[in-house]
Amino acid sequence: MKFASTLFAAAAALLVPGSLGADPSKCNTSNKVRDGADFVFVEQKDNPNVASLAKILKRVNVSDVFDDGNHKMTKDSAGRLRWEATADFNDFKTKKWIPQGISSTADAVEGGTYEGKDGWIVSWHRDDDKSARVTFVDKSNNKYRHALLVYPHAKDNFREAPIHAGGVMWYGDKLWVVDTKNGIRVFDLANIWQVSTGDAVGKSGSKYTAAGYKYVIPQIRWYKWSSDFSFRFSFLALDRTEKEHTVVVGEYQTDDSLPMRLVKWALDESTGRLKMDSKKTAKAKWAYCAQILQMQGAVSANGKFYISTSNGNKKGDLFGWVPGKYAKNNVGFYPPHPEDLSFDKRKNRLYGLTEGAGERYIINSDATKVKFS
Ligand SMILES: *[C@@H]1O[C@H](CO)[C@@H](O)[C@H](O)[C@H]1NC(C)=O
Ligand SMILES: *[C@@H]1O[C@H](CO)[C@@H](O)[C@H](O)[C@H]1NC(C)=O
Repeated sequence: MKFASTLFAAAAALLVPGSLGADPSKCNTSNKVRDGADFVFVEQKDNPNVASLAKILKRVNVSDVFDDGNHKMTKDSAGRLRWEATADFNDFKTKKWIPQGISSTADAVEGGTYEGKDGWIVSWHRDDDKSARVTFVDKSNNKYRHALLVYPHAKDNFREAPIHAGGVMWYGDKLWVVDTKNGIRVFDLANIWQVSTGDAVGKSGSKYTAAGYKYVIPQIRWYKWSSDFSFRFSFLALDRTEKEHTVVVGEYQTDDSLPMRLVKWALDESTGRLKMDSKKTAKAKWAYCAQILQMQGAVSANGKFYISTSNGNKKGDLFGWVPGKYAKNNVGFYPPHPEDLSFDKRKNRLYGLTEGAGERYIINSDATKVKFS
């Protein structure tokens, strides 16, 4: 079913390029192209509590966090990096935290290194979706350090960020994180704060703590979904290979009567924000009903899409798709439960990760090995 609907989608794109009038909220038409202008975000104003907290808390640089790795990934015989697993610490198997999103310093800046560091950033949701964290992984030594994402709700306080964090995109000094029903939250990597040791999150007496995490990253703004139909923000990724940078966002679904759309918005490289009008409204430049079941990640680069899909406990797949052509399934490309994707144009690397407890890896693949039709 999955493969059949993908063929169908690709064929339709080839034959019917027009999209005007197609209902953006549904995908049950033979023409799968949608009008990007129907997909609308409104940028919400910056949270002033970040600036006031910045006067209270100790700021550190991204490179400081990379240099302060307190755990280490190990490479297995298949070349995959697995999270640390020891007698008293187990990111590889814990059910408490589940990795979801991946981006890297190659997304952050054109040159690919950030404050001299070459590394990944990975998002995790807590099992109850009431908190999210990110991990800085230094590629030079595979050491890593988690930091807690926080929402500054008062001028002198912050709390946990209750998001699933299904995808992340590092762009400039900001970290974009999908918020499933609401849009995209933007966290400020120019304001990473060091806090004291303690179990609570936020201000406790004269100290600030973060559930044992040493560093917190505050939400500075968000992009509110503002169309009159719903969209499921499951994952996102940056495309730096186009003249105008874009962010693609997509939908995970298990029911093929529902829309499974991929939508691209243009980014303004000079401001690090979405391209918007004077009312801070950002309309997408491209939208498409991909209708691929269980999409877990998608990234575009050099005119091609890479789309990961999960298959329960079986190996994950990777579709190679050039819009206008058939999508090609690279069957079993990933271990079970693949998630978000990101691309590093320096050496055509495709970065992915898997979420299953006991099968949790970062996977660094040669994108030139992916097959397209
Ligand atoms: C798509 O589904 C809606 C109901 O959700 C229905 O009203 C509409 O006629 C369908 N369109 C096509 C082309 O099947
Ligand atoms: C952070 O980096 C800047 C330069 O980018 C440097 O001036 C500053 O000292 C660094 N701060 C810390 C805390 O390392």
